[in-house]
Amino acid sequence: MDESQLLSAAAGSNADGRSSSRLAPLIIVGDGGHGRVVADNVRALESFRIIAVADDRFTNIACRDGVFHVHPGMVRELVEADHNTKVLIAIGDNRIRSSMVQRLGLPPERYASIVHPAACVSKHAYIGPGSVVMAGAVVNHGACIGAHVIINSGAVVEHDAEVGWFAHISPNSTLAGNVAAGEGAHIGIGASVIPSVRIGAWCVVGAGAAVIRDLPAGATAVGVPAKVIKQRDIIP
Ligand SMILES: CC(C)(COP(=O)(O)OP(=O)(O)OC[C@H]1O[C@@H](n2cnc3c(N)ncnc32)[C@H](O)[C@@H]1OP(=O)(O)O)[C@@H](O)C(=O)NCCC(=O)NCCS
Repeated sequence: MDESQLLSAAAGSNADGRSSSRLAPLIIVGDGGHGRVVADNVRALESFRIIAVADDRFTNIACRDGVFHVHPGMVRELVEADHNTKVLIAIGDNRIRSSMVQRLGLPPERYASIVHPAACVSKHAYIGPGSVVMAGAVVNHGACIGAHVIINSGAVVEHDAEVGWFAHISPNSTLAGNVAAGEGAHIGIGASVIPSVRIGAWCVVGAGAAVIRDLPAGATAVGVPAKVIKQRDIIP
């Protein structure tokens, strides 16, 4: 498989040469554990067909089960081959996801946002481009989710909460009403944040923590109630 074959196949058909379907073509960037979960969420949605998975590990173009495996350096060309093609960055690490967005340099409209059919998202909530809301998650009235955010399985984002770009709300964690989680914040598995608390940019909240007071940008906080144990430079 060479690059020209890949590009002609990407411009409207699957790797096996079948013609394009009613499903919009999608490229997933990231083939780690999180990437494979995201791929499952995409398949459950039945709105997109995955035409390619891009990962730095894929140095040669290959095709497996009708899906191309390519280097991220190919993504831009693939996107330009078909104006319907969308991209989703499925990298769990918030900083690496953020730097991949810089690397690809795509406009926001080329990113898909995915809401699993078993998630519950209010019609009065906003989900930004490149964000994923996984199975069992709830996003309630007035919540605002930025771009390239992960709302992981079973997480709850309550009314009027704000979640900044590149944040990750881990499985079964809860942001109560009016919470603000800053850019790149990572809320650990099963953590809770009480109403109106502000979590600074690039904070890390430990698994199982209960956050009852604002956290400064770059803090790592653990426990019940959560206490700051580390303070980092916030530059991603
Ligand atoms: C908070 C966290 C990031 C800290 O990781 P770290 O920076 O490597 O810190 P360490 O493991 O060195 O732990 C530092 C101290 O905090 C304690 N600690 C770490 N995580 C804790 C947690 N979740 N709750 C309570 N205490 C915790 C450690 O026991 C250690 O205490 P000690 O100094 O008395 O020995 C990590 O433990 C964590 O909880 N990550 C969340 C992971 C997650 O939910 N991922 C989602 C994947 S979908």
